[in-house]
Amino acid sequence: MKTTEPILEIKQLSFSYGTIKALDEFNMRVPKGSICAFVGRNGAGKTTTFSVIAGFLRFHAGSISLCGQNLHEFRKSGKMIGLLPQEVSFFDDRTIFSQLVFLARLSGLSKNEAENETRRVLSRVSLLDQAGNNPHELSRGMKMRLGIAQAILACPPLILLDEPTAGLDPVIRSQFYELIKELKNDTTFVISSHNLSELETLCDMVCFIEKGKSISMDTMDHLLQAENTVHFKIGNDSIQLENLKTTFTDLDFYFERDGNVLSVTSKNSCTLTSDINKTILPWLLQNHIPILEVTPKVSLHQKYLKQLTQNQK
Ligand SMILES: Nc1ncnc2c1ncn2[C@@H]1O[C@H](COP(=O)(O)OP(=O)(O)O)[C@@H](O)[C@H]1O
Ligand SMILES: [Mg+2]
Repeated sequence: MKTTEPILEIKQLSFSYGTIKALDEFNMRVPKGSICAFVGRNGAGKTTTFSVIAGFLRFHAGSISLCGQNLHEFRKSGKMIGLLPQEVSFFDDRTIFSQLVFLARLSGLSKNEAENETRRVLSRVSLLDQAGNNPHELSRGMKMRLGIAQAILACPPLILLDEPTAGLDPVIRSQFYELIKELKNDTTFVISSHNLSELETLCDMVCFIEKGKSISMDTMDHLLQAENTVHFKIGNDSIQLENLKTTFTDLDFYFERDGNVLSVTSKNSCTLTSDINKTILPWLLQNHIPILEVTPKVSLHQKYLKQLTQNQK
């Protein structure tokens, strides 16, 4: 993160679809140069938030400011934000090149500038060799890259990506995250996704949304500051959680990352992580469990579940 100056600031935003309240005095603050994880369950209001920021939906109450201007002034001054919608669609009867040029011209570029900009973004996502093809000829991973090319067209100051990796295979997902890391020096991203372990590595800000309300907005580091939790990365998945739970009743156990990481949390918030280590390490050794790594940390996944529970109280 380069600065704490907000590129996006949402205050007390409310929006309803008829009688359905989708956003309820929602707040969000995204510093310039950050990659912000936008996390919430299905129906929490993520797509609605993106649609309101993009100007597709008119909000009923509250305020949105982009680059220090209110949304109306921002749009009036001809500036745009980049959006990769949840259901990305392209014109299938036009070449990739011609539709990106068309979109670039909508953002005010001359024909020549638009063509140069199209070449730049296609090369940025390694699709320049597909410029003369139609989108339906692309694989799913290529379509995702084309969606990103479209979102970064004309260098918008803010790019919103709505569940960009849903349904993508693990290789394409990691290519996607690499691409975002490469692009992050030029812009600010807000990414909604249910893949919390990937967001945890990629993002430096987090916003949790639940039933249209913000339940947390923080830096990733601060949110995940070591609590009374330790992660044990282990070399096999032979541990029976029930076994551990009945042996150590003052601790909570949980598996992360497909069973490779055993997360251990003390039910007593005053317990030191060194005390957890003292208890669990001997047990792991006695049971011949290979220990690859020990980290005192709470995961984004755990933190999210914890905050949801606190929010329901
Ligand atoms: N076009 C729509 N018409 C009516 N209700 C909608 C529409 N789109 C979303 N909603 C409702 O608004 C709420 C928020 O939805 P959405 O923003 O799509 O959530 P998310 O993207 O977090 O899954 C949900 O209750 C959803 O059912
Ligand atoms: Mg959605």
